[in-house]
Amino acid sequence: MAVKMTDRVSWVGKIDWELRRFHGDEYSTHRGSSYNSYLIRDEKTVLIDTVWEPFAEEFVENLKKEIDLNEIDYIVANHAEIDHSGALPLLLKEIPHVPVYCSSNGAKILKAHFHEDWNFVEVKTGDELEIGENNKLIFIEARMLHWPDSMFTYMTGESILFSNDAFGQHYASELLYNDLVDQGELYQEAIKYYANILTPFSSLVANKIKEVLGFNLPVDMIATSHGIIWRDNPGQIIEKYLEWAGAYQENQITIVYDTMWNATRKMAEAIAEGIKSVDKDVNIKLFNAANSDKNDVITELFKSKAMLFGSSTVNKSIMHATGGLLDMIKGIGFKNKKGAAFGSYGWSGESVGILEERLKDAKIEIVQEGIKELWNPDEDAINRCIEFGKEFVGKL
Ligand code: FEO
Repeated sequence: MAVKMTDRVSWVGKIDWELRRFHGDEYSTHRGSSYNSYLIRDEKTVLIDTVWEPFAEEFVENLKKEIDLNEIDYIVANHAEIDHSGALPLLLKEIPHVPVYCSSNGAKILKAHFHEDWNFVEVKTGDELEIGENNKLIFIEARMLHWPDSMFTYMTGESILFSNDAFGQHYASELLYNDLVDQGELYQEAIKYYANILTPFSSLVANKIKEVLGFNLPVDMIATSHGIIWRDNPGQIIEKYLEWAGAYQENQITIVYDTMWNATRKMAEAIAEGIKSVDKDVNIKLFNAANSDKNDVITELFKSKAMLFGSSTVNKSIMHATGGLLDMIKGIGFKNKKGAAFGSYGWSGESVGILEERLKDAKIEIVQEGIKELWNPDEDAINRCIEFGKEFVGKL
C-alpha cells in the first residue's frame, strides 16, 4: 500500500516483518526491516529504488494500483545491492525503455547482477534532472557508503534527501516516521546498523556528510532505504553519524568470553569485579560469545573504550565463537580501543597468547599482559583476576 508523504512523494516500499537474518547470516534483524521505494509524481514521474527480489511481484502489482507503469519517466537506482534493485528485472520487463539513473559503478554492478542491457544513464555528483517547474533531482555520489556504487538523490522543492542505506536501520514499522516510533528501539537499530555496516567506512562517512552539508541544501526529510524516514529534526541522525564516525566510544568496557566448564566465565566475572571496585561509573558488560548475538556484541564493542577477550584453551587454540568475533572486529576496523586477554587452561594453555595476537591483528591496543589460570580458579586465582581488572582500568 502506498503512503503519501507530501503532495508529490509517496512511499511504495515493502515492510518485511519476518526478516531475521540479512546478508546471509551476517546481520541479525531482530525487528525485521523494510525496503523503501519512493514514487515522485510531478510533471515527470520518478521511481526511486525498488525492493528485494522475493517481493518483486507484490511490489510491481502494488505499483500498478497506484499508477499506469507507462507513466514512469525515470527510475533512479541509488544502489545496486539486490535488496533495492531486486524488482528491477520484473519492472523493466514491462517498461524496458525507461531510463535507469545510477552511478557508473551502479551500471556496472547492475549489469553484473542481472545481465541485462537496460537504458542506463550514468550520473555524477552535481548532475541534475528536471522533474517539474519547481523541482529537480540532484545526484550525489556516495562511493563506499557502503558499496562503490552508492549514491544519494536530493529533491529540491520538497527538500528530501533520498539517502539509500545511509542513516537507515533494519527496523520494521508501520509508523513510517522517526517521531512516531519508540525512540529507544530506533536508536538501538540505528547504532547497530552503523556499528556493523558503516564503521569500516567511517572516515568516508565524515567527509561525505561535510561535503553534503557544504551544499547548504535545506533538508526536511531524510528518506532512507531501510526503516523509518527522518522527518522530525532530521539533523539529529546526521549529528549522530558524525559522532559515530569519530572513533566513537562511551564510558563502557565490554568483556567477551567463551567457556567450556565455567572457569573462564568465573575469571570474566572476577575481572569485572576488579574493574567495578576502582571505577563505579564505567558501564561493564559481559557476553558469552557462544550464546550472544554476534551483531549485538559488535554494537556493544563499538560503544566501548576497551574490551577484554577470554577463552579456554581447546586443541591448542581458542574457542570458535571468540575466533569468529575477532575476525569480525578485524574486518570492521575499530579505532582507538584498548584491550587485554584472559583464559583458563588445563595443560598447554595457548589461548591467551592467541587472543592477544588476534586483538593486535585487529588493531586493538593491548595495554597489559594477559592472565591465564590453571583448571578451575580457586580463591587465590579469583583474587589475581580481581587485581587484573583493577590494573586494567588504571591503564585506560
Ligand atoms: Fe540495503 Fe546495501 O543495501
